[in-house]
Amino acid sequence: MSREYRVAVVGATGAVGMAMRTILAERRFPVKELVPLASARSAGKPLDFAGETVLCRELTGHSFDGVDLALFSAGAGTSLDYAPVARDAGCVVIDNSSAWRMDPQVPLVVPEVNPEDVAWHKGIIANPNCSTIQMVVVMKPLHGEARITRVVVSTYQAVSGTGAEAIDELVRQSDDILAGKGPQISVYPHQIAFNCLPHIDVFLEDGSTKEEQKMVDETKKILGDPSIKVSATCVRVPVRNGHSESVNLEFATPMSPERAREILSRAPGVLLADDPATNTYPMPIVASGKDETYVGRVRRDPTVANGLNLWVVADNLRKGAALNAVQIGELLVERDLIRVP
Ligand code: A2P
Repeated sequence: MSREYRVAVVGATGAVGMAMRTILAERRFPVKELVPLASARSAGKPLDFAGETVLCRELTGHSFDGVDLALFSAGAGTSLDYAPVARDAGCVVIDNSSAWRMDPQVPLVVPEVNPEDVAWHKGIIANPNCSTIQMVVVMKPLHGEARITRVVVSTYQAVSGTGAEAIDELVRQSDDILAGKGPQISVYPHQIAFNCLPHIDVFLEDGSTKEEQKMVDETKKILGDPSIKVSATCVRVPVRNGHSESVNLEFATPMSPERAREILSRAPGVLLADDPATNTYPMPIVASGKDETYVGRVRRDPTVANGLNLWVVADNLRKGAALNAVQIGELLVERDLIRVP
């Protein structure tokens, strides 16, 4: 009989944690026992897993005893504190936070792009930033044919990426404004309903944001090509779920829109939705709830020698977080790598 694993989800009550529970069950991940973990506030809370009720437990230093694999989605602070605790208990960690992504000892993996990197894990594997994942899934097959030298990306990121509280805030503010009441602001520095915020994560000294810097650094690490120039602007928009991106690519050699469409139509994890004649293009309301990264509006950028413009949309909770983490887990199962070396 094939092996089954004790699997912990850290942050099991959150937006990503809920998607992790759903996707582990949907994809029939070989779970012997699911261990849902969250803060003390959630201890004893009933949660669903594969149609059964499991009780949430408080995350403590002993939570990982006897656990084989842990998917972390409770923020960078929790990951910094507890991923080493889990690893030292013999549990392999797949971490969705930014805490370990740029650590040279930690692979940063998108299964369609660099699956081979799981082989050198030392107990912690990082799941990239949501916006980076959907961009590199589309870049990789094109980069393989005509090297990408520069990418300029602007993101339109849904509130679900901030967490469950932000989804509630968007709905509440929208209701209040439509009812003629002033919106209450608590999650973001400004109103998010009927607005856009060019501000995701903290500002850095050079005027960029940490989210933008993550896209720059993580793209190079995942594609294994530090020479790619990346320029990013990350914007929070009043969309419930599903991140969109305007992506401008420059190639070392010619890449026609027709050839790009042909490559993308066969690329793993990618769904080409590109038919202007029928108003067909990727949208968050379509990509939300789906596993594929949608790409469309493929067209030449005539202002540079070898340029293309694309519009890329994916479910940030699924491919941008929980699905990618579970896919990394599947790679580990396939390669019998659920063990701390
Ligand atoms: P809790 O619900 O008990 O606060 P989201 O990103 O949707 O806001 O979810 C964050 C997740 O991380 C929740 O499951 C939350 O649990 C969990 N979490 C936050 N802080 C901690 C902590 N210090 N220890 C364990 N889990 C935490």
